[in-house]
Amino acid sequence: MVKKLFVETLGCAMNSRDSEHMIAQLREKDGYETTSDFKEADLILINTCSVREKPVSKLFSELGIFNKKKKADAKIGVCGCTASHLGEEIIKRAPYVNFVLGARNVSKISEVLHKDKAVEIDINYDESEFAFDDFRTSPYKAFINISMGCDKSCTYCIVPKTRGDEISIPMNLIIDESRRAVNNGAKEIFLLGQNVNNYGRRFSGGHEKSNFTKLLQELSEIQNLQRIRFTSPHPFHMDDEFIEEFASNPKICKSMHMPLQSGSTKVLKDMKRGYSKEWFLNRVKKLRSECPEVSISTDIIVAFPGESDEDFEDTLDVMNQVRFNQIFSFKYSARPQTEAEHFTNTVDADIASARLTKLQNIHTDILDEINATSLGKTYRVYFQDLIQDYFVSGRSDDNIVIKVKGSDELLGEFRDVKITSIGRTILTGEIVA
Ligand code: 5AD
Ligand code: SF4
Repeated sequence: MVKKLFVETLGCAMNSRDSEHMIAQLREKDGYETTSDFKEADLILINTCSVREKPVSKLFSELGIFNKKKKADAKIGVCGCTASHLGEEIIKRAPYVNFVLGARNVSKISEVLHKDKAVEIDINYDESEFAFDDFRTSPYKAFINISMGCDKSCTYCIVPKTRGDEISIPMNLIIDESRRAVNNGAKEIFLLGQNVNNYGRRFSGGHEKSNFTKLLQELSEIQNLQRIRFTSPHPFHMDDEFIEEFASNPKICKSMHMPLQSGSTKVLKDMKRGYSKEWFLNRVKKLRSECPEVSISTDIIVAFPGESDEDFEDTLDVMNQVRFNQIFSFKYSARPQTEAEHFTNTVDADIASARLTKLQNIHTDILDEINATSLGKTYRVYFQDLIQDYFVSGRSDDNIVIKVKGSDELLGEFRDVKITSIGRTILTGEIVA
């Protein structure tokens, strides 16, 4: 009998790729097949995120439900970022959990599976050259890790404590993996790392010095690869060379994620982001002058400790100047093992909520104006997902999500689509070529 595996993935694209890596190992080494119903699973994995407090508190209530309703002898493993930072405490609070596997230790999944109550959370563990078996949830969407961990010390962020220091994956391994993905049907690859444009800072072996611009140039030589996306670049590392390569390389999708976090130079300093409001705006200006068609998305944290009304106005000012195509915005959440956890000048919860609402409302207006200009325009769409009611969705080069009526024949295909109606998160169109 085939053993069944249920995986729930929370958090970012890196976690999604880690889940694919664990599934690959469990299929190959332990004969598991995935299921979407945890009640029939022999193994339940929760791949957790710890970037904000909410998902962490949800974890334990979710674990309780899994434990109550799972098959009697099914195992439960807690993986990912919360596994890294809570470690053994997870088993103390939920003794039925069989193992805990940190975000930097996913290659050990088969090992921990056979050791009851194993806790593997070493954030210095080096998986940068580990040869994972090939598994992708969809052949058309190829996430490819280019580095692991983070070398920054943003005062609000737990990630360096859950994913360890930054280490780059050797270029030849990235190119081989990308080639395999393309041979298996992916026309687009999505490069992943905490700070992708810091690529090449440190390798585990004696690899030649390299950088992200060089990596992009090498990858774009791959025949039949049509699009390259990446996330996240760090504004601090956005040098002219990188921006010029981004603008001039036709395979690089013209969508840039620029995590602002705050528009106030004072708050940015307290966050230890390494850039000022002026630097950020200067990089946007350079980017737009080299690449006028670029769409820009961002991450913003409101109500960081010490954020005054004027500081918040600076964030709104950057938003109004840049007019981001997409924002991911959050209220500051104090995290364990971070510097800001000890900051005492916290912002009242009601002020934090009001700021978040104001920021999001202003952005909604900006987005409505941007979207209105898309009506009647034609975009080249790469279709990747089947969605409800016989629709297929994909993305334009500049990252707009677009759906058309259609079936799975469109998956993995490019079409020109004319926009016929506008929604906030998705545009609808019809294929014209
Ligand atoms: N509180 C709120 N948001 C946070 N992020 C990271 N740490 C925190 C925190 N402590 C946000 C940042 C980051 C995104 C992934 O999550 O905006 O870019
Ligand atoms: Fe991803 Fe950060 Fe969440 Fe870890 S804590 S899963 S790195 S978003």
